[in-house]
Amino acid sequence: MKRLVFVGPGRIGEAVRASFESEDYTITVLSRREYGDFLSPAFAPEAAVTTLTACDAVIFFAGLFELNAPEARMEQANCGAIRRLAEAIHARFPQAQVITFLDARIHRTLESLPEAVRAYVKSKQTLARWTLEAAVDWGKRTGARVNAIAPGPVLPPPNKQHSEKAGDCLTPRPTPADVAAALKFLLHTPSVTGQVLYVAAGQQLL
Ligand SMILES: NC(=O)c1ccc[n+]([C@@H]2O[C@H](COP(=O)([O-])OP(=O)(O)OC[C@H]3O[C@@H](n4cnc5c(N)ncnc54)[C@H](OP(=O)(O)O)[C@@H]3O)[C@@H](O)[C@H]2O)c1
Repeated sequence: MKRLVFVGPGRIGEAVRASFESEDYTITVLSRREYGDFLSPAFAPEAAVTTLTACDAVIFFAGLFELNAPEARMEQANCGAIRRLAEAIHARFPQAQVITFLDARIHRTLESLPEAVRAYVKSKQTLARWTLEAAVDWGKRTGARVNAIAPGPVLPPPNKQHSEKAGDCLTPRPTPADVAAALKFLLHTPSVTGQVLYVAAGQQLL
């Protein structure tokens, strides 16, 4: 498990990448420049996927957090586009493991959340369901494992216009190093599939 594809690494992915590269993984980055804008009607990532030459596992860091966003916008950015990219990569590398990025709030009911984040959390809930469905479907057909990381408050939102206060935690807040450790566990534990691993300082329990 050495040849990894990082899709839209962003801040957490770039921090993780540094620790992985020092451990002899080969990492290919697929960035927005290559796969295109998730929100564009012309989004067609299949051509970008054909440039990949090897992939043991693909990690979908890419995601969009916005407050008060329309549901369709969040659904497209955080689920529809990720699913399409994952399907294209799975078609090219049917045994490659897939890891998606969710959010620790996916277990909450939408009504219990501030209205401003509901569309975002709903889109991550949809991605969580898809992740588990793909684990069953692809696991049966090709043996591909499909798992997810559900981070708590690792880093504040990149866009100040959409910043929110980090929620309460039971331990020190999770770090990119914690995310890297969780990813390595998923990558190297052959019997683990259909798992959502919370890296959330216990926030999912509060
Ligand atoms: N940060 C946290 O504490 C936290 C908490 C809970 C969940 N998460 C989830 O964990 C993952 C990584 O978080 P992060 O904070 O490292 O993310 P980030 O820094 O905001 O990076 C997001 C990535 O998604 C790409 N992206 C955003 N909008 C896009 C669009 N419309 N079309 C194509 N690509 C787009 C960005 O591309 P560009 O670089 O080109 O903009 C970037 O590569 C995300 O899925 C996030 O939802 C993070």
